Amino acid sequence: MIVVCPSCQSRYELNDCLVQEPNFVARCTKCQHIFSAYRPVRVEEIKFLSLAEAKNSELENVVTISNQKGGVAKTSTCLNLGLSLAMQNKRVLMFDFDAQANLTISLGYKEKTSFYEALNGQADAIERGMIKTKYDNLWLFPSNKNMVLLNKKYFGASNFEFILKDRLLTVKDRFDFILIDTPPSIEFFTLNALTAARLVVIPSQCDYLSTHGIDQILKLIQLIKAKTNPHIEARVLITMFDKESTASKMICAKLKRLYPGITFNTLIEMDARIREAQIMSMPVLEYNQQSTAGRQYLNLAKEILGRPLEAL
Ligand SMILES: Nc1ncnc2c1ncn2[C@@H]1O[C@H](COP(=O)(O)OP(=O)(O)OP(=O)(O)O)[C@@H](O)[C@H]1O
Ligand SMILES: [Mg+2]
Repeated sequence: MIVVCPSCQSRYELNDCLVQEPNFVARCTKCQHIFSAYRPVRVEEIKFLSLAEAKNSELENVVTISNQKGGVAKTSTCLNLGLSLAMQNKRVLMFDFDAQANLTISLGYKEKTSFYEALNGQADAIERGMIKTKYDNLWLFPSNKNMVLLNKKYFGASNFEFILKDRLLTVKDRFDFILIDTPPSIEFFTLNALTAARLVVIPSQCDYLSTHGIDQILKLIQLIKAKTNPHIEARVLITMFDKESTASKMICAKLKRLYPGITFNTLIEMDARIREAQIMSMPVLEYNQQSTAGRQYLNLAKEILGRPLEAL
């Protein structure tokens, strides 16, 4: 199990067998902070879970949208790329794997069954929890605020990174793409979503600190590649590009120079219609078919389809 010091964020890997009590007191050897820690629930105790299968299979069709930086358009990308792929006749499941439930709310749903409840449900709980949206070919697996409990219960338990992958195996054949929206943090959600992914899309705004954020997630992806998912690949997506701004152009050029070969050709411009569509609880292409960002998300879908994931 992993224990994280709440004061200095130092991480310690402890042997599960040495921890008998559900709660214990720990002292951080780096900052000397004394704190209460708890033993996470053992992953092997989850019903219908097959760790061996999760570890030995590949999910070719899973695309995780991730960046630990907040507000960079992860959810907007998941929603609008999801609809764009569905418009290309691909069957798409958008998986809201963020306790903020922004993706779920953006489609006008609330108080729906989330992965938290599904994990304790029957073997077909993912299938049952999926909502067919009003758009052709497009499904949503929703989130709710109970999702935060997953981090408390399982983060740090050995093999906790395979929990989502195990459950996605039950529905993978129904979809051409499963897009996973993640929160702006690393821990239970992002580590699970990266472990399940074939491709990670890293949305990145054209601001001064964006390269720092990309470096951090690329380092994390290297760790995931070594530890839980050797098949993972990453692509940077430039979002909220302001074509009138010199700074935006400079940073865009810098991103393309720094991350050659792993930056999508398509970029997403700043477009007020994305925000307006969100207020109306709909994807931007439904709100306004002429929207610049909407058309760019369609181009992104075509770029992804033009380079099938198997060719990565
Ligand atoms: N291309 C765009 N043009 C203008 N506004 C945008 C664009 N893309 C996203 N936004 C707006 O930026 C805000 C943040 O977007 P979004 O919620 O998708 O980011 P996020 O990375 O998912 O955030 P979080 O880290 O909190 O999950 C939202 O208000 C959204 O409407
Ligand atoms: Mg979000």
